[in-house]
Amino acid sequence: MKVLIVGSGAREHALARSLHLDPSVTELHAVPGNPGIGALATLHSQDPNDGAAIAALAVNVRADLVVVGPEAPLVAGVADTVREVGIPCFGPTAAAAMLEGSKAFAKEVMAAANVPTAEPRVCTTPSELATALAEFGAPYVVKDDGLAAGKGVVVTDDLAQATAHGDAILAAGGTVVIEEYLDGPEVSLFCICDGATVVPLQPAQDFKRAFDGDEGLNTGGMGAYSPLPWAPPGLVEEVVRTVAQPTVDEMARRGTPFQGVLYCGLALTSKGTRVVEFNARFGDPETQSVLARLETPLGEVLLAAAQGRLHELPALQWSDDAAVTVVLAAHGYPEDARKGDPITGTDEADGVDGAHVLHAGTAFDGDGSLVASGGRVLCTVGVGAHLADARATAYEALSHISLPGSHHRSDIALKASEIVAD
Ligand code: AMP
Ligand code: GLY
Repeated sequence: MKVLIVGSGAREHALARSLHLDPSVTELHAVPGNPGIGALATLHSQDPNDGAAIAALAVNVRADLVVVGPEAPLVAGVADTVREVGIPCFGPTAAAAMLEGSKAFAKEVMAAANVPTAEPRVCTTPSELATALAEFGAPYVVKDDGLAAGKGVVVTDDLAQATAHGDAILAAGGTVVIEEYLDGPEVSLFCICDGATVVPLQPAQDFKRAFDGDEGLNTGGMGAYSPLPWAPPGLVEEVVRTVAQPTVDEMARRGTPFQGVLYCGLALTSKGTRVVEFNARFGDPETQSVLARLETPLGEVLLAAAQGRLHELPALQWSDDAAVTVVLAAHGYPEDARKGDPITGTDEADGVDGAHVLHAGTAFDGDGSLVASGGRVLCTVGVGAHLADARATAYEALSHISLPGSHHRSDIALKASEIVAD
């Protein structure tokens, strides 16, 4: 089959890599893609958020399946438009993608489906904001209701900072969601859904803060690993039973079935498992670690979901190996990422046994040299028998890459790898 991937990040490069390894995939296209994806797929230059242009491209390349990676095209209705021209599309409709597009909507669905989550207060005025902050107390959790590329959330003990973030969102015409603080480690579980059936992937953990020791600002994610040696047995089944399936059932009941990835961002709190957030797509960088371990050919899984046939799919096969992903970020990320710096050493990194490089914010300059073009520039993925080996491999690969002024975290999967060594 011919597959068209929409998006340009390392998540889409990971999807392209897995689809390229699937023998049933005969031709790969990507829009807009990036230099790494370009080694595996034919690249196209349409605007990924323009549904009509993407649908026309899908028809043009005779795609059998379109896979939409990021949230922006999903919320813009690109999957709807592709389906309207009769091509199976992996990714939710705009109506279903509201689970990510509005935190207030997601909370409303969770309440209706009895899904455990942090208690929210939706605020549209400074006085509602002040009341909600006083009600919950510190630590304060202040969120922008709409899409904010992972940067709309402030968690702080400082009331002035919490108020300032909320006021800024309101001043920009937005809505603020204040919620109960959730303690406990976070888990990302991606559930493949076809509107009715839920097929969970293996859980992963993401590192959202910019610097080692969870210091610095929230980012889109600086690294990830899978599996989670510390996760309680039965976690995946519990999340499907108490979170994903009730949500998918509730969306179907409302006439807006959810088809695509329901990303369950969870906190394992002292009071039990709680949803921190839903996303309507694969997570980045967790996907890079999770797909490195999936043995079932990816194309058939995504096509079965797009065609409402997940119940026919045999159980997914997983490698026993562990996978660790480390993100290389540009100078100044996440506040003000510098573009244009030269990147060298990616071939050497790819040559490390058990490692591969996935591109995100990279581009070719006028001379055909690779340069940074975004905040999260690329990542290395290491695969090994244990997390410690996978980590060592990912960091060895990264050591071959040079990008002036860049930074990365040195503690991705460190604690978890020590649990295994005990
Ligand atoms: P979100 O965009 O909703 O995923 O939030 C981004 C990050 O903020 C999460 O991954 C958590 O680390 C943190 N966060 C969000 N909501 C809460 C909460 N209720 N309690 C504690 N931390 C939170
Ligand atoms: N890694 C977090 C996200 O994809 O939203």
